[in-house]
Amino acid sequence: MSVPPPVRLLILGAGYHAAEVRVYIQDLASQGSSVEVVGFLDDARPAGVHGRFHVLGKIEDLAAGKLADFSATHFITAVGSNRLRQRMVERVTAICGSALPAWTLRHPSSWTGEDVEIGDGTCLAPAALATTRVRIGRHCILNVKASLSHDVVVGDYGNINPGATVCGNVTIGEGAYIGAGAVIKDKVSIGAWSVIGAGAAVVADVPANVTAVGVPARIVKHRVETQG
Ligand SMILES: CC(C)(COP(=O)(O)OP(=O)(O)OC[C@H]1O[C@@H](n2cnc3c(N)ncnc32)[C@H](O)[C@@H]1OP(=O)(O)O)[C@@H](O)C(=O)NCCC(=O)NCCS
Repeated sequence: MSVPPPVRLLILGAGYHAAEVRVYIQDLASQGSSVEVVGFLDDARPAGVHGRFHVLGKIEDLAAGKLADFSATHFITAVGSNRLRQRMVERVTAICGSALPAWTLRHPSSWTGEDVEIGDGTCLAPAALATTRVRIGRHCILNVKASLSHDVVVGDYGNINPGATVCGNVTIGEGAYIGAGAVIKDKVSIGAWSVIGAGAAVVADVPANVTAVGVPARIVKHRVETQG
């Protein structure tokens, strides 16, 4: 059996979620996975060593031809904001195209059942679960102890925060943000780029571009452009 070539990973973002992603990758490496972090790109920090982050530069440095200097084979986004992840991906893809593909992170303690599809660049955090016939889009975050039951669909750039419970046959639109500990009742749909507050119980469909909070969840904001 041929051994896959090692992954040399650029992490986009050097904040809270990036710190978590870095540790998840350490766990994978300690279990024999051939993935190595080459460094971080962050538009808000100067290049250099910041604590445990070796910031190599900014995304725009890729446009200046520095990909070869970084000697990275793949990238992953590591910021909580869905819009920001989307913008990062669009920028990196425009600059590097297929020379720098997205890498998908599955923490060793995450679990997926049968017929689960996970899009490129998505992160499955520790103890994240997806049972059967689940479709998770590209560049999503399924955070710590979040669970997706049967026949759930999550659009690209979706973010299911820690401990959220998504029941069967739920559809979550592109860029939707499900707050920590929220419960989404079965057969409900959440519109694109909507935000569900932490601890909410969603029992009816939620349209696109709104914020809904509480038990049962009620819409408290309509937005044109969400922060995700
Ligand atoms: C829903 C949320 C995004 C709203 O943030 P926001 O757009 O800044 O809205 P505001 O803070 O102005 O709140 C709007 C109203 O909803 C209420 N509200 C906000 N979040 C709420 C929540 N989770 N549950 C119940 N009510 C909530 C506020 O008290 C406020 O009520 P008021 O108008 O009567 O004063 C945010 O509160 C939240 O729950 N985020 C999820 C955080 C999370 O899961 N983080 C995980 C990181 S790993």
